[in-house]
Amino acid sequence: MEITHTTNNPATTSVDALIAYVADATTMPSVLSELDASLGGAISRELSRERLRAGKGDVTTITGGVDGPQRIILATIGTTHDGERDAVRTVGGRLASACRAARATSVAMIATGDAEQTADVLEGYLLGAYRYERFKSHGSQHDADVDGVEASRPAPLASLELLGAQDDEAAAATRAATLANAVNWGRDLANAPANHLTPEILGFHAEQLAQRHDHLSCTLLDRAEIEARGMGMLAGVAQGSSNEPRLIVLEWNPPQDTRPDAERLALIGKAVTFDTGGISIKPSAGMAEMKLDKSGGCAVLAAMRAIAELEVPRKVLAIIGATENMPDAAAYKPGDVITAMDGTNVEITNTDAEGRLVLGDAICFARELGCSRLVEISTLTGAMVIALGHHFTGCVARHGDLTDQVLAAAQATGDHAWHLPMHDTYKPSLKSDCADMINAGGRAGSSLSAAMFLEHFAKDTPLVHLDVAGTAMLPKPQGYHTAKGASGWGVRLFVELVANS
Ligand code: BES
Ligand code: MN
Ligand code: ZN
Repeated sequence: MEITHTTNNPATTSVDALIAYVADATTMPSVLSELDASLGGAISRELSRERLRAGKGDVTTITGGVDGPQRIILATIGTTHDGERDAVRTVGGRLASACRAARATSVAMIATGDAEQTADVLEGYLLGAYRYERFKSHGSQHDADVDGVEASRPAPLASLELLGAQDDEAAAATRAATLANAVNWGRDLANAPANHLTPEILGFHAEQLAQRHDHLSCTLLDRAEIEARGMGMLAGVAQGSSNEPRLIVLEWNPPQDTRPDAERLALIGKAVTFDTGGISIKPSAGMAEMKLDKSGGCAVLAAMRAIAELEVPRKVLAIIGATENMPDAAAYKPGDVITAMDGTNVEITNTDAEGRLVLGDAICFARELGCSRLVEISTLTGAMVIALGHHFTGCVARHGDLTDQVLAAAQATGDHAWHLPMHDTYKPSLKSDCADMINAGGRAGSSLSAAMFLEHFAKDTPLVHLDVAGTAMLPKPQGYHTAKGASGWGVRLFVELVANS
């Protein structure tokens, strides 16, 4: 969604909805006084009501007059404190829900002079406005309400006009929109059905993105190249699928950053476009959700889009391992031994522990391309959903600067993460009788032994592993993520991390 900046008068702006947040409901923003007068004081009356005064993030809708906005949607923010930026984003999400409920397609928002707050409200609004509707034919039978009367869905929020912003607030708003639009693009990719978003198509999206930007380049490795480079783990997972795998490499090289490539940060993402579990097949109940097993890779790709669009002046390397995990006559099997790019022989004990295989080779490749820090994101283990639920990502890492930077970026952006141990004590569970390692240890601490598996390939290069099994795929709406499914977790965090790297 595009946002435009104007100096139009709210009283005469004819939009479906005029939205405004007020920090303190006792004082009405002066830009609203003309509109308030034309509505016979309806806005000030509403603001003086107890409900709006008391609550943080309460939303109320006022009917507009003959001219100007059809309705005015007000929200209170109250006084926020450090670390409460997410509460402000949630207010934005509520405004989006109110606009959606009103079937508003044209929306204007009033600038307040507080650039950070407006950016946060807008970010929450744009993330809250997101729906995945690509395959919903308009007015289709399946859209009928329970009573069968209404067969039309709320129209998507099509435009947003910011009224009266000064330069700093306008810039912050534009940046927030660029970021949120990238997150929502990543959500579109992650939500896409596996038959529409194959590894090949994901690679195509990466290539198209690189074509749109100077200083962004894309390299794609196909099945033959993956095999030729000795990536036996990625090739092993992919051998059961008739859809070709892709190893997607994106390099962002802004001219301002003169550091050697060897000092680059690498973002590595798992894009298993569908995870059946392979021969160690998953139960059929809930299997459809495994189209979201590409969420980590989609977050990396969307972050690269935002980084390029915002022209972040820091180099970064992105590697996405994309494949399906299918049961097939040609599929890899429990008991097979496959050889990683670095020569490690891995005994397969469970073909459903495929993510770490894909990522292990991606990590080897990142090191070969030259980088000093690795941040990896994947929907890696079901156990992480049990451990942290859907609100916090497990940040499995050793103590160190990179971990501190990732946790600080999590705090700043609202992509919440919590530190868990990457520690040698979890290594013995990966011992193999016949090879160097097994791919799946026991149930106890399985999220942490998975991280040890990844660290084996990172060797001495610092690695932060982000397990987004719970946070990237939401079973129901939460906060400003007002739609279930893909959340786009990680996109905002990566942009922040790269900018500060
Ligand atoms: N993609 C799954 C992890 C997952 C499960 C993500 C549920 C989101 C929701 C991963 O490939 C997987 O199957 N992991 C196994 C590993 C096990 C076999 C060691 C798991 O967690 O059960
Ligand atoms: Mn799996
Ligand atoms: Zn998986």
